[in-house]
Amino acid sequence: MTFRKNILCIGAGYVGGPTMAMIAYKCPQYKVTVVDIDAERIKQWNSDDLPIYEPGLDEIVKKIRGRNLFFSDDIEKAIREAEIIFVSVNTPVKNYGVGLGMAADLQYWEKTARQIRDVSDSHKIIVEKSTFPVKTAQAMERILTSNSSHVQFDILSNPEFLAEGTAIKDLEYPDRVLIGSRMTESGLKARDELVEIYANWVPMERIVTSNIWSSELSKLVSNAFLAQRITSINSFTAFCEKSGADITEVARAVGMDSRLGPKFLNASIGFGGSCFKKDILNLVYLCRYYGLVEIADYWESVVRINDYQMRRFVLTMLGAMFNTLAGKRLCLFGFAFKANTGDTRESPAIYISRRLIEEKVELVITDPKALANAMNDLKGLEGKISYIEDPYEASANCDAIAVVTEWELYSNLDFKKIYKNMVKPAFIFDGRNILDHEKLFEIGFNVFPIGKPALTHFE
Ligand code: NAD
Ligand code: UGA
Repeated sequence: MTFRKNILCIGAGYVGGPTMAMIAYKCPQYKVTVVDIDAERIKQWNSDDLPIYEPGLDEIVKKIRGRNLFFSDDIEKAIREAEIIFVSVNTPVKNYGVGLGMAADLQYWEKTARQIRDVSDSHKIIVEKSTFPVKTAQAMERILTSNSSHVQFDILSNPEFLAEGTAIKDLEYPDRVLIGSRMTESGLKARDELVEIYANWVPMERIVTSNIWSSELSKLVSNAFLAQRITSINSFTAFCEKSGADITEVARAVGMDSRLGPKFLNASIGFGGSCFKKDILNLVYLCRYYGLVEIADYWESVVRINDYQMRRFVLTMLGAMFNTLAGKRLCLFGFAFKANTGDTRESPAIYISRRLIEEKVELVITDPKALANAMNDLKGLEGKISYIEDPYEASANCDAIAVVTEWELYSNLDFKKIYKNMVKPAFIFDGRNILDHEKLFEIGFNVFPIGKPALTHFE
């Protein structure tokens, strides 16, 4: 079959894989290839056991893989053949040198840009899909045009807004698709080509265009606003616990204001995930770079309060269990950074586990999808840790359960049975407020929700 165009995506991760699967699914006239330097990951994408768990992804990939969706580790060949190249490599926080712990580590996209430059012999549209610092497109242009050949490149910014666990739905029905371009003739032509691809399934009024720097910045600002909203609601949880107010009732009342809206107001142990913290810190770093100290401090406080919230959760457990956790057996319900994903990057569970082990807890971890990643995250940590998938078995002989991830299955468990097999007094710390607290209290548990007064059987 002859395809209208060859699309390539460099980086077969949580974004590259699902995003390209959706484009290939909706646009059979395009050939879509996804490449990665990690040959093992590509092998998994070509197998029955995909490298990431995302509801609905398996079905789509299995339908179109080999039709117009291909996974390969021959990066150079794929670059040569492609007309449109999405760059979806990782952009973690730097863990060395200038900008340590704050700035984005740009070595991955830079290598990619140089490789594209060295291999290309025809015009290509390069699409920034990863989340990059503002002005990355300019740096990319400089690298791409720094050779002697006269191959022309047009750079677009097309940030991804999907959330893990709902990626397929987010990609199929996006709130918006944002495309930033240079306002030159070739920049606008490139932009139109990308609009044409998305128009295969996204209504035109949801495809938004802007200048390239606005597009890059909008992605960072969106994540900053979302994270700030969680921090805002979380910042009132300690207040509620002390005053007798209930954070769920407060969130409902606040969210009914149509200017604020009800979403993203679930109080928690703090946000996790690979992006919120890194993107805010990157924004903070950029603000400092431009001398905007007050703005940098303002946004940095979102991350600080988030860290405080995680710390607070462990201190609540310590305080509730008579100020000593040493030798007690504690079961974490969930390890993923949110439900419906196996991803544990920056999961609050990692911090909580480390702290609990410091307190000499015997830790049992259960999660339906994230146990392999959990083992990897806690590798080398000295202490007693076991990993048990069945929550009944995991919680048996434990003194306490801490709900860390809001997996639906945890709200449907038989807690009478769980209580019977636990050490008494038995405690539940519901870091996600997904359980029926009154009912647990009636069963006999001492219950510590987030942002609500505790229910205990002690005087
Ligand atoms: P990821 O780590 O899952 O995937 C990145 C992939 O890029 C890896 O498989 C890595 O091997 C590959 N890679 C790195 N350098 C390469 C190179 N030179 N050539 C070929 N492959 C290379 O990361 P991710 O979660 O998919 O995130 C990618 C980007 O998208 C980040 O900038 C992130 O901020 C952004 N983003 C992520 C999400 C999300 O939910 N995970 C959502 C929106 C945006
Ligand atoms: C987030 C954004 O929602 C996406 O739009 C964005 O594309 C993505 O980051 C990114 O750039 O990587 P994601 O991190 O996958 O997506 O998941 P979210 O649903 O945003 O959850 C992030 C964290 O916040 C999770 O730990 C979640 O449990 C927590 N959260 C979320 C709360 O504590 N309360 C809420 O009300 C919502």
